[in-house]
Amino acid sequence: MRAGSRLLLPLLFTVFFAGQAWAAPSDADWSKAGHRDVTLFYPGVASWEFLNGDDHRLGGREIKKGKKDCRHCHMSKDGELDLKAAEIAAGSMRMKRSHNPFEPEPVAGKKGLMKAGVKAAYDSENLYVRVEWESKGSGWRSRGTPDRVSIQMNGAEPYFAKYGCFITCHNDANTMPGSPSRREVAANPAYNGRDDVRLYAFYAKGSWDGPRHGDRLKNGLIDLKSVEFEGGKATSRDGWVFDDRAWEEKDSPGGGAFSNGRYSAVFSFRLKSADKFDVNVSEGEVVPIAISIHDEGAEKRKHFVSFPVAIGIGAAAEVRAVKLSR
Ligand code: HEC
Repeated sequence: MRAGSRLLLPLLFTVFFAGQAWAAPSDADWSKAGHRDVTLFYPGVASWEFLNGDDHRLGGREIKKGKKDCRHCHMSKDGELDLKAAEIAAGSMRMKRSHNPFEPEPVAGKKGLMKAGVKAAYDSENLYVRVEWESKGSGWRSRGTPDRVSIQMNGAEPYFAKYGCFITCHNDANTMPGSPSRREVAANPAYNGRDDVRLYAFYAKGSWDGPRHGDRLKNGLIDLKSVEFEGGKATSRDGWVFDDRAWEEKDSPGGGAFSNGRYSAVFSFRLKSADKFDVNVSEGEVVPIAISIHDEGAEKRKHFVSFPVAIGIGAAAEVRAVKLSR
């Protein structure tokens, strides 16, 4: 039997949000949902600048043209990753030209790859995406460093469909090797006293202190949702990435649990959302998501990431979301 179909504690939770209720699909619903095992990898400090630069010359040429996607060169037809992620995680791998390490601060015992089960379903109101993975559950069992799964989603920007969250990961972001000092960031008026550089889409800003290009609310906005596990509780947040990463609210629809050695998180995306910071998706569409997982005390950039995964809302895709009759 597939690990993904193992029985979890019944995950029946109802959350009230902005005056309206949503009910997560039941276990019976999930057992009928479209499913795929997705491999996530440890990227070290591989940023958008690395991917487009001399250290990744063969790949960079194609990325600049927006032609071949990551999977074309780094994944076989049956979904096997061809990427030296274990060497990156161990800290032994260096970049080709600059000889800079892919991971200057390796974490002892860190794996290069992990698997997550991804399921999707929808009803007349929402698209639901469930992500689960095997874990020791250190965040759930304690307080201090939560475990977390995040999803970026964008249905309109072709670079997102090909390169996923890598288009938001920059060498000058907080904890990356080219990050400005906290004092420098705080001194920049655009940061309003904040001292960290967060995710931003390459087409929205050329560098941490560059001007913003374009309108935040047009197609390039990337929806961001996250479920965090800490001290026996799951908290769901809703946010976005464009020229910055921001959270709109805590306790947005979504939730999860840790049980039988597995985390399970459910995300809810409103169909045809009127919220200006949500991505607008509807039945019949295929929408790419990118997943990141912070597990076993990982913080900031030290997460696992996926290549984009296409979710079909009642349409053929890598994961086909099934319509729930309810
Ligand atoms: C046209 C093919 C191509 C594409 C597209 C491509 N890469 Fe690569 N990538 C390579 C090659 C070839 C290497 C080996 C280094 C070299 O020769 O430049 C590499 C190396 C890497 C490495 C260093 C680890 C290793 O296994 O060598 C990482 C990390 C990486 N690529 C990530 C990505 C990501 C993420 C994307 C998508 C955003 C991507 N690549 C797109 C061809 C590609």
